[in-house]
Amino acid sequence: MQTSNRTDFPVILGIVETGHELVLDFADSWHTALQGMSRSGKSVLTYTVLAQLAKYPEALITGLDPTGVLLGPFGDSPGAEYRAITTASMENHAAVIAGLVAEMDTRITGLLAAGKDKLDSFSEETPLLVVVLEEYPGVLGAAAAEDSENGRKPAERVKPKIQAGVRRLIQEGAKVGVRVLVLAQRMDAEIVGGAERSNLGNRLTLRVDNLDAVKMLHPMADTDTASLAAQFSPGHGLIGRPGLPTQRFRADYLAYPKYTASVRGGSQ
Ligand SMILES: Nc1ncnc2c1ncn2[C@@H]1O[C@H](COP(=O)(O)OP(=O)(O)O)[C@@H](O)[C@H]1O
Ligand SMILES: [Mg+2]
Repeated sequence: MQTSNRTDFPVILGIVETGHELVLDFADSWHTALQGMSRSGKSVLTYTVLAQLAKYPEALITGLDPTGVLLGPFGDSPGAEYRAITTASMENHAAVIAGLVAEMDTRITGLLAAGKDKLDSFSEETPLLVVVLEEYPGVLGAAAAEDSENGRKPAERVKPKIQAGVRRLIQEGAKVGVRVLVLAQRMDAEIVGGAERSNLGNRLTLRVDNLDAVKMLHPMADTDTASLAAQFSPGHGLIGRPGLPTQRFRADYLAYPKYTASVRGGSQ
C-alpha cells in the first residue's frame, strides 16, 4: 500500500523574546533535552509538543512515563508496544527500550543496504519515532528500586539496561528517525553523559535555581542570561538550538483536558 511520505514535522512551542513564533521541526535530526525544577512547566510544554505531533500519522509517540499522565492518553493507539506507563513494572520499561533499539537496528541495517546515510522521509510504515522520557531520573530511580527489591544479579538488572538502551537511541538513532525528548529536573552528567549531550541539539531550560545546571545545557550563554533561569515563571525558559544563540521563550499553555482531547482525536 502506498502512503504519503512526510519530510517535515513542525511544532509550535510558543514565542521567543523577539515576539516570533518558536517552531521546532522534529524532522531535524536532533534530540531534545528539557530541564526544569518541579512545577516549572516541563510536562505542560510536552503536552503542547505531543498534541501537535499526534496529528501526524507519520509520527509515532513512544517512550517511558512513570506517571502515566503524559503517555496514558494514547491508550492502545498505534505504538502502544513502545510505550511504558506507571512504575508498576520497570521490566516493561526495559522491554520498551529494547524494542525501540531493535527497531533502530533494523532501520540502520536497511539504511546501509540502501546505500543511504540517513532517513529523511517518513510514512505510517516507517514513522518518525518520538521517544519521550518523562521524569527520566525518576524512571531510573524506580528501576534501581525494583532491581534491589528483587535482589537481581547484575546481568538481570533493568536500570542499566534502560540506561544503555537510551544511550544507544540518543547516539545512533537520529539518522534513522529516532527523536528522543528527555525530561529531567536537571541534566546531570549521570543522567546524560557528555557524548549523549552533544546529540541533544535542542536544549530547553525552564526554571532552574542552579547556575551550573543552566551552563551544563547552555555553555555559551552569558552569566546574566543564565541567571534569569532562577526567576522564570512556569512555561518561561531559555532555548538553545544548533547554530543559534540562546534565546528566552514563553511556552504556549495547553490545559490537560485539551491535551487528552487532541491526542484522542488525533490520527493515532
Ligand atoms: N506555559 C505555561 N503557562 C502558564 N502556566 C503554566 C505553563 N506551564 C505550566 N504552567 C503551570 O505550572 C504548573 C506545573 O507545570 P508542569 O508542566 O506540571 O511542571 P513540571 O512538569 O515541570 O513539574 C501547571 O499545572 C500550570 O499551572
Ligand atoms: Mg512534570
